[in-house]
Amino acid sequence: MAHAQDPILTPHPGSTITPEKVRDGIDLQINGRAYRHTGDPHMPLLWYLRDVLRLTGTKYSGEHGEGGYDLVLVNGKLASAIGTPMEQLEGKSVLTVEGLAAADGKLHPLQQAFVDEDAIGCGYCTPGWLMASLDLLNRHPQPSDSEIDQLPNLCRCGCQTRVRRAIKRAAKGGHA
Ligand code: FES
Repeated sequence: MAHAQDPILTPHPGSTITPEKVRDGIDLQINGRAYRHTGDPHMPLLWYLRDVLRLTGTKYSGEHGEGGYDLVLVNGKLASAIGTPMEQLEGKSVLTVEGLAAADGKLHPLQQAFVDEDAIGCGYCTPGWLMASLDLLNRHPQPSDSEIDQLPNLCRCGCQTRVRRAIKRAAKGGHA
């Protein structure tokens, strides 16, 4: 709605456009850094990560996150980046696959276990597996096979068996 006292928000005479009030912005943390989103509050987190911040590790996973390629942690809980609009993230903390490695580049133990078990084919599914595995290990430090098999991730390259070994290796502190 135009605001009569605000010249910036008052449409030019004859204009059919009604200016929108400038949005306040949504403040959030991503991988420990502070960001303010002033665009469309309905924008899915996935597009903010990929198109605005160029954090392209998190992948498109269908309109409903099928396959788990778009998984991230929001305040420590597993969440679909396509299913999470920016308006739900005010004051929240997001962790993506780019935030797993240490500042000096040392891989997170889960990442190292995926490398050691050769659990990466084309790699499209890997970020989602890593985030879901991290969430699983946070809840169940020694997960069973069936708990691993219940993760919402798919791998079209057929790496599930090696992924399972990698998660178990990470659970044992990097030992097979
Ligand atoms: S490694 Fe290719 S889809 Fe999983």
